[in-house]
Amino acid sequence: MAKVLVSAVLPGPALDLLRLHHEVEVGEDPIGIGHEGLLARVASAAALITRVSDRVDEAVLDRAPALQIVANCAVGVDNIDLAACRRRGIVVTNTPDVLTDATADFTFALLLAACRRVAEGDRLVRSGGWRGFSLTEMLGVRVSGASLGIVGLGRIGRAVAERARGFSMRVRYTQRHRADEAVERSLAAEYVSLDALLAESEIVCLCCPLNASTRGLISRERIAQMRPGAVLINTARGGCVDALAVAEALRTGQLFAAGLDAYSNEPAVNPELVACANAVLTPHIGSADRPTREGMASLAAESVIDVLAGRAPRHPVG
Ligand code: DGY
Repeated sequence: MAKVLVSAVLPGPALDLLRLHHEVEVGEDPIGIGHEGLLARVASAAALITRVSDRVDEAVLDRAPALQIVANCAVGVDNIDLAACRRRGIVVTNTPDVLTDATADFTFALLLAACRRVAEGDRLVRSGGWRGFSLTEMLGVRVSGASLGIVGLGRIGRAVAERARGFSMRVRYTQRHRADEAVERSLAAEYVSLDALLAESEIVCLCCPLNASTRGLISRERIAQMRPGAVLINTARGGCVDALAVAEALRTGQLFAAGLDAYSNEPAVNPELVACANAVLTPHIGSADRPTREGMASLAAESVIDVLAGRAPRHPVG
């Protein structure tokens, strides 16, 4: 039996499954044991199960001579120093596919909420400030038939594009490499440059991973390229956008609204954003429906069991 360190309790049967095979130590706090906790507890671990908020860097790896696998319970792996893991022969895995639909559903939830002022309306009603039905107040952006620009047509981007068809939206996308013609055809998605996507889209959704080419992608300059009154949706990573620039654009009206689910330094959220009534801010819950989170946890557990048994995991990264 090897030791598996799990940074926080997992939903569903994953922990029971792991315990059938290994000695399992689980962080007590659902928010995780933090970097300090990883440093303190990783020493004898052969496997580590992490979440997006667990930073696995050289310092952690230096303390983990027995480590064979880091199974990230997420599709994004920007919290892990992949190069350092590779140098040490440590396998890194993630949990794609199981979260695609949930994240695309949530992207649409944010899109609808931001365009149609759902959160603002809720606050108005709860505050007692609603004076009655009005033909001229609380007007939003029309979603049906709108032009949607998707940055990153990976699994989640494609699932967003599929949903957009139900709203008769015109879909454009951009990414480093153009998708297959068959994919474009089935999604009715047009490949364009980032410049064109920003200039033409009424709604822009970020569905890309955070990496060197997407860090800070939505900068002040990029926002200035967007259609005045556009809507920005980010269910990717906070690091893809300049939060201050977004807040400024929300204030001036360059952006009509934004729906944001991820932030650079979670759980901190830039106060300038918090001050914007036209920002819908959610606490990184894009994949948070129960079957999805349980599926992610089971996948991470299975990856650990496979690697410690000498088998190839289903979703190695890199
Ligand atoms: C991911 O999977 O990368 C999300 O951010 C958490 O589900």
